[in-house]
Amino acid sequence: MAPTCGVTPRRVSRSLKGTSMPSSHHQVSASINTEQLANKIAAAVESAWHRAYGAGRLDVPISVVATLAALPEKDSCGHHVNETVSSWDADTFHDFARHTWSSVIRHRPEITHLLHPMVSWIFDDPDREVRSHAVAVAQAALRAGQPHLTGTERRFDVDLLGTVLTVLRPKPALKARGQFYTPGSIAKLVAGMSDVREHSNVTDPMMGTGGMFRAVAEVMRERGRDPHTIRWIGCDVDTLAVACATVNSMIWNLGTDIVFQAGNTLEPGWREVALAQREELRRLAADLQRDQAMNAFVRSL
Ligand SMILES: C[S@@+](CC[C@H](N)C(=O)[O-])C[C@H]1O[C@@H](n2cnc3c(N)ncnc32)[C@H](O)[C@@H]1O
Repeated sequence: MAPTCGVTPRRVSRSLKGTSMPSSHHQVSASINTEQLANKIAAAVESAWHRAYGAGRLDVPISVVATLAALPEKDSCGHHVNETVSSWDADTFHDFARHTWSSVIRHRPEITHLLHPMVSWIFDDPDREVRSHAVAVAQAALRAGQPHLTGTERRFDVDLLGTVLTVLRPKPALKARGQFYTPGSIAKLVAGMSDVREHSNVTDPMMGTGGMFRAVAEVMRERGRDPHTIRWIGCDVDTLAVACATVNSMIWNLGTDIVFQAGNTLEPGWREVALAQREELRRLAADLQRDQAMNAFVRSL
């Protein structure tokens, strides 16, 4: 049988459900560096979203970029996926997004509450207008070259979601909340000053979208160490930033020992609360799976 190429909503979202995102080789023209590409994508997303929707909710455009991060640069036959995905209509893109995040939540139930502020609209039966705006944003991100970034190993080098969130947020709000994320090069400099060993904890109590974690992982890899062995502990009051940090942990392949909390870092015990929530969600998911298996068994009798 001839191999089937191309990308369909059900076939492409292989990567977000595990611990890592798509892997392929550097492919974009050498003339544009990764930071510039991230800025270009963020500008395209911002312009498409504000043209279509105006200011206001940011969960839709940020989740569109997060969803597209599940795409490899090329499909199994070597075709560039953006050619296929660019032709999707609003319903097909929505179907793809729903399938992608259902799959992630099935495989990683313990991060459901962290992702919720970003992806809940996808499961809330959004109206046609919101779906059309979402696909318009997706097409803008694709035209700006997102698969060349998040569909390749370039994704390790930059915080695309943080860049998009910063560009989307109204400037006075950013200023009021002090939400200026550390530039990648500075974060790497800081990370390089500490000697993070495998099997240790790395904590950022005001993590934003997790840029410091990315830098630590980069330095660890350069030193031949495995970031999967780290417990990444982070907190932020901004629930959308925490959702971005959670998706970033997959984009940057940080492993699954993620202890994140959306809340006030000044409140004592947030780490313990985050750990307890994680364990509770894992237990509930295991119970559910056991009940489903039991039901299937009873039905088969
Ligand atoms: C300057 S940013 C730094 C983000 C990140 N650590 C970095 O280096 O890129 C400060 C972050 O702290 C968060 N923040 C401010 N007050 C906080 C609080 N009381 N509890 C948790 N997060 C807070 C903001 O939402 C923002 O994301």
